[in-house]
Amino acid sequence: MATSMRVSVIGTGYLGATHAAAMAELGFEVTGVDVDPAKVDLLASGRVPFFEPGLPELLQKHLATGRLRFTTDLAAAVADADIHFICVGTPQQAGSSAANLDYVEVAVAAVARAMSRDGLVVGKSTVPVGTGERLRVLLAALTPEGVAAELVWNPEFLREGRAVEDTLRPDRIVIGGASPAAEAMLREVYATPIAAGTPVITCDLPTAELVKVSANAFLATKISFINAIAELCEAAGADVTVLADALGHDARIGRRFLNAGLGFGGGCLPKDIRALTHRAGELGAPQIASLMRRVDEINMRQRERVVELAIAACDGSVLDARIAVLGAAFKPDTDDVRDSPALSVAAALHLRGAQVSVYDPAAGETGRRTFPTLTFAASTAEAVRGADVVLVLTEWPEFVDASPVALAELARGRTVIDARNCLDADAWRAAGWTLHALGRGAPADVRSVVFA
Ligand code: UGA
Repeated sequence: MATSMRVSVIGTGYLGATHAAAMAELGFEVTGVDVDPAKVDLLASGRVPFFEPGLPELLQKHLATGRLRFTTDLAAAVADADIHFICVGTPQQAGSSAANLDYVEVAVAAVARAMSRDGLVVGKSTVPVGTGERLRVLLAALTPEGVAAELVWNPEFLREGRAVEDTLRPDRIVIGGASPAAEAMLREVYATPIAAGTPVITCDLPTAELVKVSANAFLATKISFINAIAELCEAAGADVTVLADALGHDARIGRRFLNAGLGFGGGCLPKDIRALTHRAGELGAPQIASLMRRVDEINMRQRERVVELAIAACDGSVLDARIAVLGAAFKPDTDDVRDSPALSVAAALHLRGAQVSVYDPAAGETGRRTFPTLTFAASTAEAVRGADVVLVLTEWPEFVDASPVALAELARGRTVIDARNCLDADAWRAAGWTLHALGRGAPADVRSVVFA
């Protein structure tokens, strides 16, 4: 599709870099803007500063078509564009559970000042409900005389590891608080996915903000629900993985996000449920605030449970024990270690005196930067060699497919903790391992003896 619409994308992290490349793929002239010159240089040379499958290829394709550029010069990029996407981060505030909105406010203010013609400012970042309304005031106050600017919210639902696919073919497009003209512009932007059947939901500004936050809150709740059931499964000798499969056949429930184990981490779910708790408290909506607090507590408890399992596997003390940790990323297909459950567990064991050797196929570097005191191995074999206990904390295919027979020859001990319920328990046990998992009662052979 050829079009004359020009796009600026403010912030080139996971969201912005992917959105900028996707906008170019959809046919627009795009300039990605970031305050970090190193990041801009890297992107402009076709390299992505994080691991995201498919993104380097898309980036290089559109640097070559000439539709995609990157700059630190926000004023020039904005002055030249009709539609401005705000894609900056909203991390958790230091010392509070609230979201830090500094980056969003600074970005909107800078865009407002730089606008030289009428245009649309589109918020994509995840923000507490009510933020858009305040940003509208800011935008109106700072836009130059004679320039008409409108602010709408169009939340992003992309998953890391699937960012390109989710951006080009989203489940739904939510447009909040748009005038008919703004809605028409966004429908033009998303003409390709809309033509392919992606539903569009138009609503007011606060509803759009809350759709995003509620989606993440619901996903987090699903995970903590299954982890709470997993505890019961263990106590009762049931198997949470079979239970989740059976639940998942009910279309009203669905199987996805019912994988019990170490729980959720990353740059989104944990900080979003905390920001929601905080905002709900401010607005006097205590029910969702207390539900989210329980979801968060259950989730954090999973990390402690895995640490306890490892200590138990070492007969009550991990002091000087050699522990192989397979996985550092908060989930597979990313090198993101923000609030990574795997690294939390690795660090907790290290602090208790264990010799921890961590291996991750993509997140070795990011992991080392975050926890420089941990030892990072270059392969599964290197991490497992001489280990007393092996912990599988991120379900990378490489770990799922690893040969338990080969690893048994490398390790000193024969205990594996499958904290993601991702291993073939029977194959590992057949290879001589004692396998502990979260939410799976006694192994089949034990049960059959007990109930024979
Ligand atoms: C999440 C949402 O899934 C996206 O829709 C949303 O756009 C994004 O946050 C965001 O707000 O930007 P993401 O953080 O990439 O995406 O990760 P998820 O795939 O949601 O996984 C989150 C965590 O939950 C991971 O640590 C994963 O291991 C864990 N998880 C997931 C489970 O423990 N069990 C499951 O069944 C599923």
